[in-house]
Amino acid sequence: MPLNEGFLTLYLTLVTLRMQTVELLALVLTLTIATVHGDTGFLLNTRRDQENPQSIEAEVEYLVRSSFYAADPIVLNIPRWLGGSSSPEISAVVSARLQHQDSNIISVDLSEAQNETEIINRVSNLVILLNSHFNVPLDRILVVGFAEGAHLAGGVAAKVQQDLGGQLPRITALDPSSGEDLEHKLSASDAQFVEVVHTNAGEEGTWEQLGHVDYYPNGGQAQPGCSSNSCSHERSLELLAEMWSPENDFVSARCGSVENLGASNCRWSSHKMGEEQPVTGIYFLETRQSSPFARGAYYIAFL
Ligand SMILES: *[C@@H]1O[C@H](CO)[C@@H](O)[C@H](O)[C@H]1NC(C)=O
Repeated sequence: MPLNEGFLTLYLTLVTLRMQTVELLALVLTLTIATVHGDTGFLLNTRRDQENPQSIEAEVEYLVRSSFYAADPIVLNIPRWLGGSSSPEISAVVSARLQHQDSNIISVDLSEAQNETEIINRVSNLVILLNSHFNVPLDRILVVGFAEGAHLAGGVAAKVQQDLGGQLPRITALDPSSGEDLEHKLSASDAQFVEVVHTNAGEEGTWEQLGHVDYYPNGGQAQPGCSSNSCSHERSLELLAEMWSPENDFVSARCGSVENLGASNCRWSSHKMGEEQPVTGIYFLETRQSSPFARGAYYIAFL
């Protein structure tokens, strides 16, 4: 009898264990599916794989197996809402950066984006992972955002600040959208230095000052050689290569207000749009309609 009771107990224990195993398996499967079909994947470009980005996840194993090199600076590139590998902002940032510097460019794939909070959490988790597992100091991580991506960049930087207590050094916002549909709106408090380039203000972009410094090339609304809003909007991407070039010649004038970017209200400065040296205020400059865009001090005669 005791033997039978023993078997029964063992049998029941095994059944219980088996159920737990099944449940555990189901849970693991659910989590895996959630990861695979999550809002946000990442694409990595380095000089070793400039043309074909590697698909990575915010996990140590993925990064270790990729061509990610922790000693090189990191550019986190956030595209427009629903932007993905074929969006011009991805290739523009990759080529602008790799022309001049060995870097890891990690672009966020938002082609299946649904939930802003989840995107911000996943991207900030990647930054935290880089910082904690790969000893990447925050000041080696630059963030670039285009259109809605500029506000998401601000959200990510704010979340990193909240979780790690340290600020990211720089956000470069390229023709940010109004941010009306988003919960987090980019602001100067998101990073140590927030620079904003407005190229289609009042249309796909916004007039609103969002950073420490806001640049309004050619007045900020319509760009030379462009006859559509999307052309002016995406011109901000084309300007980036020269902003990051050692030959940057985007000499800018400092203005008193966005309402009046004309001669009476702007003063020549030696500052160049996109320069490393942080400045504050509102700046105006003129550009050409094609590359090279910079005109140096050409317009200054008119101010
Ligand atoms: C977005 O995700 C957050 C966090 O997971 C959740 O609390 C929120 O309800 C979601 N919002 C929508 C609109 O689904």
